[in-house]
Amino acid sequence: MKTAEPSPTETAPATRNKALLAWVETIRALCEPESVHWCDGSQEEYDRLCESMVQAGTFTRLNPKKRPNSFLALSNPSDVARVEDRTFICSQRKRDAGPTNNWTPPAEMRAKLQGLFAGCMRGRTMYVVPFSMGPLGSPISHIGVEISDSPYVVVNMRIMTRMGQPVLDVLGANGAFVPCIHSVGAPLEPWQDDVPWPCNKEQKYIVHFPETREIWSYGSGYGGNALLGKKCFALRIASCMARDEGWMAEHMLIVGVESPEGKKDYVAAAFPSACGKTNFAMLIPPAEFKGWKVTTVGDDIAWIKPGPDGRLYAINPEAGYFGVAPGTSAKSNANALASCRKDTIFTNVALTPDGDVWWEGLTDQPPVLLTDWTGKEWTPGCGRLAAHANARFTAPMANNPVLDDKADDPAGVPISAFIFGGRRATTMPLVFQAFNWIHGTYLGATMGSEMTAAAAGTVGQVRRDPMAMLPFAGYNMGEYFGHWLEMRKEMTRPPKIFHVNWFRKSENGKFLWPGFGDNMRVLKWIIDRCHGTVYAEETPLGWMPRPQDIDITGIKNYTAETLQAALAIDVQGWKREVMLQDELFFDLNADLPKELLFQRELLISRL
Ligand code: GTP
Ligand code: SPV
Ligand code: MN
Repeated sequence: MKTAEPSPTETAPATRNKALLAWVETIRALCEPESVHWCDGSQEEYDRLCESMVQAGTFTRLNPKKRPNSFLALSNPSDVARVEDRTFICSQRKRDAGPTNNWTPPAEMRAKLQGLFAGCMRGRTMYVVPFSMGPLGSPISHIGVEISDSPYVVVNMRIMTRMGQPVLDVLGANGAFVPCIHSVGAPLEPWQDDVPWPCNKEQKYIVHFPETREIWSYGSGYGGNALLGKKCFALRIASCMARDEGWMAEHMLIVGVESPEGKKDYVAAAFPSACGKTNFAMLIPPAEFKGWKVTTVGDDIAWIKPGPDGRLYAINPEAGYFGVAPGTSAKSNANALASCRKDTIFTNVALTPDGDVWWEGLTDQPPVLLTDWTGKEWTPGCGRLAAHANARFTAPMANNPVLDDKADDPAGVPISAFIFGGRRATTMPLVFQAFNWIHGTYLGATMGSEMTAAAAGTVGQVRRDPMAMLPFAGYNMGEYFGHWLEMRKEMTRPPKIFHVNWFRKSENGKFLWPGFGDNMRVLKWIIDRCHGTVYAEETPLGWMPRPQDIDITGIKNYTAETLQAALAIDVQGWKREVMLQDELFFDLNADLPKELLFQRELLISRL
């Protein structure tokens, strides 16, 4: 195979890791880039890449007075979210991928990928991006190397992970890494001009080989499809590593809560994509909760291990936030707004005439004129969204004013509670507590949620999304439930497990719970339950607060009746809910732990 001639932009590798050098050479020979750039992760390199993307039209530099050191990227309208139907788990056996994942025999997929990647980087620079998931050099961290032909990916990876030369130094001559290869799938021939957002409209493949711990991604430049440290590595591949090694890789935020008396707890919560993890992780307590402090460890992914004291400890493997922009405002999440005040990459939001950004929900009154996410002129009432519903900001966690002081601690933080929650207009009460670990696992396993714009597909339809991991479990979902049950044996003080729903609506379509900062009121009940200092009523669903156990003083225009409706158990709705669980249980039957079937029987008899 032909090896590309080194070009003037070529950089030399600063590693003696033979496996890495050999792999990079193999990929270079396959993809035929014009040049190879080994990323050092420096500010200078970041600035240079951003400036070159401004020149190329991929980035618009935002007004430095309003958004210092920040940029706007508008994607191709065909490349705006994760593509679950193009995501594959290619284990040797189909059963190991399980019925909830797309599977193709690995040999067949490898042949397909060889064809797709052959010459796919022609005319482009191939970037080699070494990154660490978790604090650099920590025993719980893991190293990956992403090869990508997208400078947009490189600068996003620098915010989202610990990236660059220090990672190669830790990797050393013999260290192991997860190889992640990414191409936008748009080779540039000499006569072709580049486009601002290259991607492949016809072919997209997000492929994982769990046994060999490899990731191959083709055709998309967006989010979880392209920033391979995040969903592909830290969830799909890591969930396989975790199963084999006795830990957990979960789609969970991690948040610290400190009481006025100085007692600190950490909780981790699994909500599906675009269902409020970032908001909950940065929650600002209402005025009535004077002296309470809420701090962020992570907003999307948790790696969780049993500690020597019999508790579970969690780290956030990421270093930044890839947060949903629409709906984020000074009212709903001031800490997220502060996080993206500077040093931020915005994708698919709208641009104001004075070089700032805007999205639906940022302000009550929209600006009179905008450039929308497709680059068209936008005025209020024109009938189109100014920002795409899955528009995002990529912001360094260091910008977060409430970053927890242990966010970088390699030892992680002890977890007092796990919270599961979906987006459910009906049936699911505001909060209830599982009777025990097995019941809690059942609550997570049977979780449902309305689909959001985070994935291409049908928005609004309720689907089962077990533990918010449906698109992210790298192996058989039934076996994954089994792993949750197994983990109980590794602890003497397991977290208490809860289920919440911020999204229940009244018959006239109004939310029955104010949400956002007011979620603190529910969080307080959860923490108090962990300490056994608050009453709970035994119900068919689990332990529940009575309306008087949730403090609603100070919520504007909110009544005890509405809270009662948010907490109500709708027995007819639950009968339907139990039937809906069959969809998933039927598919998983062969590998479903029998404990979960018994839990279902128990629930039916309690109802
Ligand atoms: P991913 O990054 O996709 O994994 O999602 P996430 O869970 O971090 O999503 P995020 O917190 O950004 O969720 C954003 C959406 O949830 C927006 O539409 C918010 O308006 C909505 N949201 C967040 N918290 C609440 C809440 O407490 N109540 C209500 N009603 N909506 C909420
Ligand atoms: C999600 O969809 O759960 C995300 C965004 O966190 S992405 O990284 O694009 O998957
Ligand atoms: Mn997510």
